[in-house]
Amino acid sequence: MAYPPNLVSLESPPKATASVTPDLPLCARLRARDRAFCAGVRRSIAKVRSDVIRVAEASDIEVVEALRYAALSASAPSVYSPREVIELLDGLDLDELRAMVTDRQLFVVAETDGPIVGTAGWRGKHLRHVYIAPDSQRAGLGTRLVARAESDFRDRTSAAEIHVASVIYARGFYEKLGYELASARERTGSEPFWMKKRFDVAR
Ligand SMILES: CC(C)(COP(=O)(O)OP(=O)(O)OC[C@H]1O[C@@H](n2cnc3c(N)ncnc32)[C@H](O)[C@@H]1OP(=O)(O)O)[C@@H](O)C(=O)NCCC(=O)NCCS
Repeated sequence: MAYPPNLVSLESPPKATASVTPDLPLCARLRARDRAFCAGVRRSIAKVRSDVIRVAEASDIEVVEALRYAALSASAPSVYSPREVIELLDGLDLDELRAMVTDRQLFVVAETDGPIVGTAGWRGKHLRHVYIAPDSQRAGLGTRLVARAESDFRDRTSAAEIHVASVIYARGFYEKLGYELASARERTGSEPFWMKKRFDVAR
């Protein structure tokens, strides 16, 4: 897939933030203790930024595609083979993504007047398309976007549980949000973790 020009803006934070933001990509090369420190710094930055979550529009689809590509390309090679990474990247169902936008089931987050840095939504009984731009991860945005998608899902379906097909490395993220394995069957190869979250009756 060609890198759309708008992906450049996902990778380069606005100048105003760049001047006060530490060199976060370096975190990947630091030890675990230092990574925890960096995660704390990101959370502090997130608190003073005014990120807004909104329903995605048709004009956002190209950016969401680019965001998905950037997020998966950065994370998937840590656990998947090159062939599996390509399969993941090629696995986008664009018709489904468009239908989610039409049905107002997809949400995006962006800083005021800034680029979209995260997305999450739902379709059928599944949480879908949860992606945070590499430089904006571990700042709580994934948690907030999933909460928004879950809330919309509950309001509109009254379902008692929601499902997600988690890539291998995101299992800890979903567990932190209350998801558990949906089946005791052993996962094989590059198969996702099939997970689900039951909602309390009261809200
Ligand atoms: C997985 C992903 C959506 C998480 O979003 P995020 O905004 O970084 O997550 P949050 O900051 O809300 O994390 C909340 C908690 O989840 C857990 N968590 C997040 N990412 C994790 C990871 N990669 N491994 C294990 N636990 C993780 C942590 O406990 C974290 O809390 P902490 O930062 O205080 O330790 C994001 O890393 C991403 O977009 N990855 C690439 C795309 C992708 O694979 N999406 C999933 C498709 S199923």
